[in-house]
Amino acid sequence: MRPTFVVSAFAALALAAPRPQDIVFDEVDATPDPTIYTPPTNVTVDTVAIQPASAASAIASAAVTDVASTSDPTEKRDVMGVADQLKPRTADCGALPDGSGPAVNNPDTPDAFLTYQPFLDASSNAPTPQGYTPAFQGKQASSQTTSYLGYKTLDKYDPILCQEYCDQLEGGRCQAFNIYFERDPSIAPADGCPNPTSVTNIKCVRWGVQVKPETATNTGGTRKPAFKVAITGSNGYNKLAPPKAQPGFTAPMALGGAINAPNDPVTNTNTYMGYKFFSFDKVQTFEGGVEACTTACTAQTAYNSRHPPAAPAKPNVCNQVVVYVLSNNNQPQGIQCAMYSESWAQNYATNYGQYRGNDYWSVSQAYAYTNATYAAKYGNICAVGGCPNGSFRGGNCGGYGAGTC
Ligand SMILES: *[C@@H]1O[C@H](CO)[C@@H](O)[C@H](O)[C@H]1NC(C)=O
Ligand SMILES: *[C@@H]1O[C@H](CO)[C@@H](O)[C@H](O)[C@H]1NC(C)=O
Ligand SMILES: *[C@@H]1O[C@H](CO)[C@@H](O)[C@H](O)[C@H]1NC(C)=O
Repeated sequence: MRPTFVVSAFAALALAAPRPQDIVFDEVDATPDPTIYTPPTNVTVDTVAIQPASAASAIASAAVTDVASTSDPTEKRDVMGVADQLKPRTADCGALPDGSGPAVNNPDTPDAFLTYQPFLDASSNAPTPQGYTPAFQGKQASSQTTSYLGYKTLDKYDPILCQEYCDQLEGGRCQAFNIYFERDPSIAPADGCPNPTSVTNIKCVRWGVQVKPETATNTGGTRKPAFKVAITGSNGYNKLAPPKAQPGFTAPMALGGAINAPNDPVTNTNTYMGYKFFSFDKVQTFEGGVEACTTACTAQTAYNSRHPPAAPAKPNVCNQVVVYVLSNNNQPQGIQCAMYSESWAQNYATNYGQYRGNDYWSVSQAYAYTNATYAAKYGNICAVGGCPNGSFRGGNCGGYGAGTC
């Protein structure tokens, strides 16, 4: 279904009540589900292709000018490292890399590994790196979610080393990391050696979206025919920093949820212009998504001005774009960008998520970016209980100033 995207604020005058900005799923439905990545267990370093930020801008600009079709099928990118995939497979019962951590060989069983006290201690005594907050601790499973950014093995269980690996990706693209002990085979399991001696790898995986207890679901599985991979001491950490500033916009304003704005309280005009959705298969990371949203907002303003409505109506300007991660049952799907012709205060951020059948779609990492030129003239509208005294009560007519509507 084609979402209504360019809506004149003046046409909306006829509406009896403002449209609530419930999460709309048209674009989500028109987009294939993003890939859920499980880090491989058979390589020591996994290099993935990481998109430059400019890729997200190009995707966003294309999404706005291409109004004839909102359902452009996504091509699945080849994210797995090409080099790793071309590596020859290890021959049956052939040697695999030594583990990076201490082996648990007495006894050498998955159960002994899962409850090995030094691993549990390392996990529970681990320091939380500066700039991060713990997401989960001591899980017997690693994270699997969208926006996989590769991993490496460490020779020490130290979240600070893992944080450094995450922060090496500039532009804040690494949003989270997962460090854990993994029980791996010492030689490639095969019929001649179904359940070889184990080694331990300490793995540090980075992600472009936040991790949660609910994404720590990979318990390892079996390397056929009979070797049990196991994971223990799995700790996840999320970056605390807000997303980057974007050119031409004010600094991101943190929101507790998505904005659900009424009409402008003074002029009673609608300010909601519609939304864009970008799957993590397209924009890859949270930061890539934020950049796509602000680019789409600017591109929408330019597009509207090239296709103006009949006079005296004026083309809508996207003066505020609210960005958030949209997750289905806690699995991040993509970035939703809601556009407004006037800017709203945090007090209107009241949409935390909603049920759709049995699935809960939640809003997280919500931020508002406001056109800096606009923000220099007008405050964020605040006209509900709890607004600070002297708040801007509205009345600038879709961003064109008082008296123009
Ligand atoms: C690792 O496992 C994957 C999936 O089972 C396989 O496609 C790949 O060839 C393996 N890589 C190596 C280096 O053995
Ligand atoms: C801010 O709004 C003006 C129109 O008032 C527009 O020309 C400009 O492109 C907008 N800036 C951004 C960064 O969207
Ligand atoms: C805000 O206004 C209310 C009512 O006029 C007044 O009681 C209160 O002291 C004001 N608060 C501040 C911080 O000025």
